[in-house]
Amino acid sequence: MMRKPTRFFLTPFSAALILGLFMVLGRTISAETTTSTDKAEFVGAQTCLSCHADRDSFKNSSHAKNMARMKGIEYEKSCETCHGPGSLHAAAAGDKSNPGYATIKSFKNSSSADVNAACLTCHQDQGRLHWAGGTHEKRGVTCLNCHSVHNPKNEKKLLTSVDEKSVCFQCHQDIKAEIRRNSHMPILEGKMSCSDCHNPHGSATDKMLVADNVNQLCFKCHAEKRGPFLWTHSPVQENCLTCHVPHGSHNDKMLVAKLPMLCQRCHFNGGHNNAAYDAVNISRQENRSANKSCANCHSNIHGSNHPSGKFFVR
Ligand code: HEC
Ligand code: HEC
Ligand code: HEC
Ligand code: HEC
Ligand code: HEC
Ligand code: HEC
Ligand code: HEC
Ligand code: HEC
Ligand code: HEC
Ligand code: HEC
Repeated sequence: MMRKPTRFFLTPFSAALILGLFMVLGRTISAETTTSTDKAEFVGAQTCLSCHADRDSFKNSSHAKNMARMKGIEYEKSCETCHGPGSLHAAAAGDKSNPGYATIKSFKNSSSADVNAACLTCHQDQGRLHWAGGTHEKRGVTCLNCHSVHNPKNEKKLLTSVDEKSVCFQCHQDIKAEIRRNSHMPILEGKMSCSDCHNPHGSATDKMLVADNVNQLCFKCHAEKRGPFLWTHSPVQENCLTCHVPHGSHNDKMLVAKLPMLCQRCHFNGGHNNAAYDAVNISRQENRSANKSCANCHSNIHGSNHPSGKFFVR
């Protein structure tokens, strides 16, 4: 048997109930707005500094000077550009139970997105064109992991550590280990830094490289490997990382494997005596590659411009 659907009649009682509900809701909303930053007003740096005298050092930072010079934001207005208008916070005078206290933006409990957005209001320029969607952004890394506005360990670039590599090593311990291997990029020696190859703010390329692809990156400093060559060794033009690791290796010349095994990954034909450690070949008189590295003879392994350099021996 079907039940008769109950109709909702607008009796005077239910009308009053609904009206009352709306009034309560409206009250809570307006109560919230009075404690939100909307109502807070700008008070200026002098007011902030009357309680936060220790922050006065910001005045001498290049950041503060540039904000005035390039953005026309005078020191007096600078604090609240980042922290938001502070009148309610100032009125709370440090009383954390006063709802006004927390209206100041401290960045401590902010989400990664909020921190980054605050900085990007001024820094959405060339260098950070690919911040959004970059690996660091996606993994919740914030500007403040690498930069500090008030207490940088390195004034130049406002870094959170003494130098760039130390900033990266906070999280990339594996890379720290790699660049200590026998053969490595001269990063510890100070001849180059991570940002010569990576843009920590993200880039259009995989692994946040500063070039369109791996080879274009390597050619920036190893232009002689670019070619074009009369005789090209195809894996070289394809990807340097077929044979080299980018940071450091226990093998000579940052190779991914020792010679001759590296070459034997691809060359194992019997015509040439290139199976150096093959038990059968090693007994053959003509096997002159035993105990030698292929590159002893094939010295122009990246490509040759010699008319008879087909085999990269000259
Ligand atoms: C009347 C004094 C007073 C004034 C004025 C004042 N503050 Fe504060 N502020 C405090 C006190 C006290 C604390 C708590 C400090 C602590 O616990 O170490 C605080 C904390 C903060 C915090 C950290 C908030 C948190 O979530 O922990 C920030 C950021 C801050 N103030 C910025 C400002 C800025 C910017 C201004 C100017 C717009 C300002 N303050 C004006 C007294 C003041
Ligand atoms: C460019 C943005 C920026 C400007 C301008 C700025 N701050 Fe900050 N402030 C920050 C950030 C970000 C933090 C979080 C810690 C850090 O990175 O150093 C912070 C932290 C603080 C804190 C400590 C909060 C805590 O966690 O205890 C206080 C207090 C403060 N700022 C006050 C000021 C005052 C006063 C001024 C102006 C003289 C000012 N700030 C100018 C970005 C800024
Ligand atoms: C109101 C604008 C403004 C805001 C907000 C701002 N900055 Fe800046 N910042 C500047 C200006 C202007 C410069 C100098 C020119 C430049 O390098 O782009 C600068 C420079 C820098 C530099 C380079 C310093 C150097 O020595 O080369 C870093 C790093 C930096 N800001 C980080 C931050 C971080 C992190 C935040 C967020 C907490 C932030 N900025 C928020 C305006 C701002
Ligand atoms: C993973 C670490 C890291 C993060 C995260 C990071 N930076 Fe940087 N940033 C650096 C390093 C390292 C340099 C110096 C690079 C150089 O010398 O070319 C730098 C340089 C800068 C500079 C000055 C040079 C330039 O490119 O204009 C600004 C401005 C800057 N960063 C802003 C930001 C802002 C804004 C954010 C957040 C959206 C941010 N950075 C996030 C590491 C980082
Ligand atoms: C706060 C931690 C943190 C710091 C500091 C940091 N990174 Fe990262 N980085 C990460 C995380 C998380 C990833 C994601 C991959 C992973 O889990 O290793 C990553 C990934 C990368 C990648 C690989 C990108 C990809 O697409 O796979 C590169 C390159 C990189 N970081 C470079 C740097 C450089 C250069 C610095 C110093 C300027 C730096 N990072 C500092 C956390 C950090
Ligand atoms: C000579 C250029 C160069 C320098 C300098 C360099 N890198 Fe790299 N890095 C690369 C290349 C190329 C790759 C990509 C490797 C690949 O595609 O497998 C890479 C990959 C990475 C990755 C991702 C690793 C993975 O397995 O996904 C991280 C993280 C990284 N680099 C961090 C750093 C840090 C931190 C520094 C500084 C200490 C640094 N790199 C210096 C060229 C460089
Ligand atoms: C920013 C410049 C720069 C970039 C980019 C660069 N290199 Fe280098 N590379 C150097 C310097 C400097 C040395 C050390 C040369 C020396 O000490 O004589 C070096 C050395 C090497 C060595 C010899 C290491 C040894 O133990 O003798 C190899 C192999 C090498 N790089 C491969 C690469 C590859 C592959 C890439 C691309 C992923 C690359 N480089 C990108 C600057 C660069
Ligand atoms: C087929 C493997 C292979 C590929 C691919 C390769 N290399 Fe090499 N590379 C070698 C070998 C083997 C050596 C060591 C030669 C020696 O010891 O005489 C070497 C040495 C080097 C050196 C140090 C000695 C020198 O010649 O300057 C640099 C720099 C270098 N390679 C850069 C590159 C770059 C850049 C690329 C990509 C364009 C690349 N390599 C691709 C095998 C390769
Ligand atoms: C990733 C695979 C790979 C590695 C590793 C590699 N090669 Fe090659 N090599 C090739 C390819 C592909 C060709 C082109 C073959 C062709 O054109 O028939 C080639 C061509 C050559 C040639 C010219 C052969 C011909 O018939 O024209 C020589 C010589 C050579 N490689 C030597 C070496 C040496 C020495 C090493 C070690 C340092 C090495 N290769 C490492 C893939 C590789
Ligand atoms: C003693 C010098 C020498 C050594 C060591 C040597 N080669 Fe060769 N290789 C040559 C010469 C010369 C040629 C030119 C072809 C010929 O005359 O037979 C050649 C030709 C080649 C060719 C192309 C012809 C063919 O047989 O496919 C390849 C590939 C090659 N070598 C790979 C290697 C590898 C891999 C090693 C290390 C295991 C190696 N070679 C060690 C001298 C040498």
